[in-house]
Amino acid sequence: MVRSPEAGASDGGCAEARPSAGAAAGTALVTGAASGIGLAVARLLLEEGWRVLLADADAAALAALRDDPALADAARAQLLRLDVTDEAAVARAVQDIPADRPLKAVVNSAGIGHNLPFEQTSVELLRRIVDVNLVGTFIVCQAAARAMRAAGGGAIVNISSGSGLRANAGRAAYGASKAAVEMLSKVMAVELAPLGIRVNTVAPGPIETPLVARMHGEADRRAALATVPLRRYGRPQDVARAVAFLLDERSSSFVSGETLCVDGGFAAAGAFVHPASG
Ligand SMILES: NC(=O)c1ccc[n+]([C@@H]2O[C@H](COP(=O)([O-])OP(=O)(O)OC[C@H]3O[C@@H](n4cnc5c(N)ncnc54)[C@H](O)[C@@H]3O)[C@@H](O)[C@H]2O)c1
Repeated sequence: MVRSPEAGASDGGCAEARPSAGAAAGTALVTGAASGIGLAVARLLLEEGWRVLLADADAAALAALRDDPALADAARAQLLRLDVTDEAAVARAVQDIPADRPLKAVVNSAGIGHNLPFEQTSVELLRRIVDVNLVGTFIVCQAAARAMRAAGGGAIVNISSGSGLRANAGRAAYGASKAAVEMLSKVMAVELAPLGIRVNTVAPGPIETPLVARMHGEADRRAALATVPLRRYGRPQDVARAVAFLLDERSSSFVSGETLCVDGGFAAAGAFVHPASG
């Protein structure tokens, strides 16, 4: 049942006082949307009624999506080749969003990672990872905040990582870039709150995506399963649902500056993850 805002006020504000975020019909910009978590987020937001701008640097991966039935509604699903480190291109992409479907949601899922010991991590590799994961997120958030200011608010979700919260061997560059995304997001949450813009992060644990297929060898997989209390890898859809929760004004209008771990309990765990054998 759809209730009026007045109904929400009279019952203590617990009812769904606002229309569905997607149905309220803004545009959601999803970066890294041609693969893995970003693609799962884009599909779910389309299901929820958003117009979705699916942005990715990989032209071939975008082209492979052209026949995807979930993206068939061309009026609502727009594919865009976009490198998040290109400030001018990001600004153009945001400016081109139609005024009648203003930018109300951003999900920064574009990211790269490597699995290398600290001593073997070159400065060049560190710069590349920081450039995409941190600087790219910064660029997109800044362009988005300016547009959302004009549109009267919105919500941003940045995909960080369990490796940005806890020290995983082999993730010096990647983990540092994701820890920086965590703090960037918190500062933005504080500064942008007066504009009606909420900013949160989702920190996934190991999720079955092409990135993980590249980064996790057999030893990594054994280690991950030994340290994740739920004893499995997550699915991109697990992350997408958490993202949708944080974008939806009905479910999370008072949540900002928060990190939501979608990690099977990894961040909560201590040394003894599985029950003692006795
Ligand atoms: N899969 C996991 O286990 C996991 C865990 C923690 C965090 N994450 C994070 O989740 C996000 C998505 O990861 P995924 O596993 O879906 O990876 P993925 O490789 O499947 O997808 C990442 C996408 O980002 C795009 N991309 C890379 N650089 C870009 C750029 N400069 N501009 C625009 N797009 C760019 C790629 O083309 C790719 O399509 C990343 O930020 C990653 O660090 C993933």
